[in-house]
Amino acid sequence: QPVSVFGAPTDVGAGRRGASMGPEALRVAGLVEALVRRGVDAVDRGDVAGPRNPWQKPVDGYRHLDEVVAWNRAVMALASAELEAGRMPVMLGGDHCLAVGSIAAVARHCRATGKRLRVLWLDAHADFNTSAITPSGNVHGMPVACLCGLGPDALVHLGGPGPAISPSEVRQIGIRSVDAQEKRLVREHGLDIYDMRYIDEVGMKQVMEEALAGLDANTHLHVSFDVDVLDPAIAPGTGTRVPGGLDYREAQLMMEMIADAGGADSLDLVEVNPALDKRNRTARLAVDLVESLFGKSTLMRD
Ligand code: ARG
Ligand code: MN
Ligand code: MN
Ligand code: MN
Repeated sequence: QPVSVFGAPTDVGAGRRGASMGPEALRVAGLVEALVRRGVDAVDRGDVAGPRNPWQKPVDGYRHLDEVVAWNRAVMALASAELEAGRMPVMLGGDHCLAVGSIAAVARHCRATGKRLRVLWLDAHADFNTSAITPSGNVHGMPVACLCGLGPDALVHLGGPGPAISPSEVRQIGIRSVDAQEKRLVREHGLDIYDMRYIDEVGMKQVMEEALAGLDANTHLHVSFDVDVLDPAIAPGTGTRVPGGLDYREAQLMMEMIADAGGADSLDLVEVNPALDKRNRTARLAVDLVESLFGKSTLMRD
């Protein structure tokens, strides 16, 4: 399947600046070239545009809500166009609030084409906060809740009336930081969470078998890859680091098993923050992992 890479260079949903440089960091690390080298028909569509970061305090539980909505509209429009053209959108963030737009586009596409949807949310965080319970006001801590119908109208109904997805379509992997009230909400809505403790106990192989169970040819698989799912020792270039994340081999196996299951049909690559990195290490690791997601095997061939 042909791939369209595009950037959304903003950090309006975050509490630290710098994820806005993520798209360029990933390009400099050779993302598009790596896909082309794998034989993928990949083109770089450039960046979508949006408002600058006004760097204000949260208002009514949201920081920069108008700006977040504007960026997500732009992401949704381009992702929708690429899906309609039969191409796989790869969205380079930017912070994770942008997954509202990319997944709203995917959900709408699934409804129009009669496909089932599965979202793999690879993250240290559940990103299931609301304005009432957020400890920060940062919207990058809220995208899953918004997509499931809990959030401001402008984000909940971004791709049309009603929630874009149901919690039952989501599998979260690598989680190790959930805020006190967020925990209650996550349990209430029955989110399927494979946290670090479960990964430690049963291993990544079983985790991925469970998270990918039930996929068929009629399922659209969306992967939302927040690089803070990786351990900060190997991926320091991100704004909300949490110790105890995935090590290199666990992350590789995760990506390889997604590839074996047929690969992703759309992808977010978010929260790369080169301002906090050394020598673009985190973007380079992300590119390495995306190659595995696209079927590069560490042992068998190429
Ligand atoms: N749970 C914290 C918050 O809501 C951190 C969220 C971090 N999210 C992310 N996509 N990095 O503020
Ligand atoms: Mn996230
Ligand atoms: Mn995160
Ligand atoms: Mn481990």
